[in-house]
Amino acid sequence: MGITDDIAGDWQASLAALAWHVDLGVDEVIGEAPINRYDLAETVRAPAAPAAPAMAAKAVAVAAPTLPQVDAVEAARAAAGRATSLPALREIIAGFDLCDLKKGARNTVFADGNPAARVLILGEAPGRDEDIEGRPFVGRAGQLLDRMFAAIGLSRSAAEPEAAIYITNVLPWRPPGNRDPEPDEIAMMRPFVERHIALMDPQVIVVMGNIPLFALTGQKGVMRARGNWTTALGKPMLPMVHPAYLLRNPIAKREAWADLLSLQSRLRART
Ligand code: URA
Repeated sequence: MGITDDIAGDWQASLAALAWHVDLGVDEVIGEAPINRYDLAETVRAPAAPAAPAMAAKAVAVAAPTLPQVDAVEAARAAAGRATSLPALREIIAGFDLCDLKKGARNTVFADGNPAARVLILGEAPGRDEDIEGRPFVGRAGQLLDRMFAAIGLSRSAAEPEAAIYITNVLPWRPPGNRDPEPDEIAMMRPFVERHIALMDPQVIVVMGNIPLFALTGQKGVMRARGNWTTALGKPMLPMVHPAYLLRNPIAKREAWADLLSLQSRLRART
């Protein structure tokens, strides 16, 4: 191998390592300057200086302060209840600091589409593309979602409520590495979803996948629930499989199409 091969090899290895990290969910460089951790080794291994006896005695005497326990779900409910409009709700969610997912996210992804739409689509959580752009469903799954609803004459950019959709997610922050949201994260953010739906006041809700189905009904198993209209938060609700699932299992598009036709006839019956 010559010098050029070496360089090419390094380059390809670096690219492969980078792709591997991106697959694992790494999407940010934390520090600007590299840290030589070999230089730090001695500092880390060096034993800590023993505490002065007087200080140690004092440390034993001082009782640990008891911090008041915050009930995050109650705090979310109180915060959500203060929102009297969708822009106000957006601000309140962006300022809500009790959910750790916020710390790792670049953007609070609130919603997209026409708030006057008759149809509200509830997804799961932002992925990488949504986190970067700050809008729900803009990646590959989102593009499929747009094509699916366009097939029945609905779009997020339509000005007329009859032709429009409005899109939001259960979680406004991207879970690291696109992992599934934890039940406590869902429970914490549910009051915001409830308020969001109450303020937007759609005629029907479409839940996309397991997570929003669980968030609104406590029910698991969207494959069984899909296509069956039910009621959630006082609104007719249609469960559908998530477009990301359809990308992996195109065979399931047949059922998704049946569900879209069911939505279309429901909307036609109400005009
Ligand atoms: N999947 C979701 O459920 N929501 C998004 O916003 C993007 C992908």
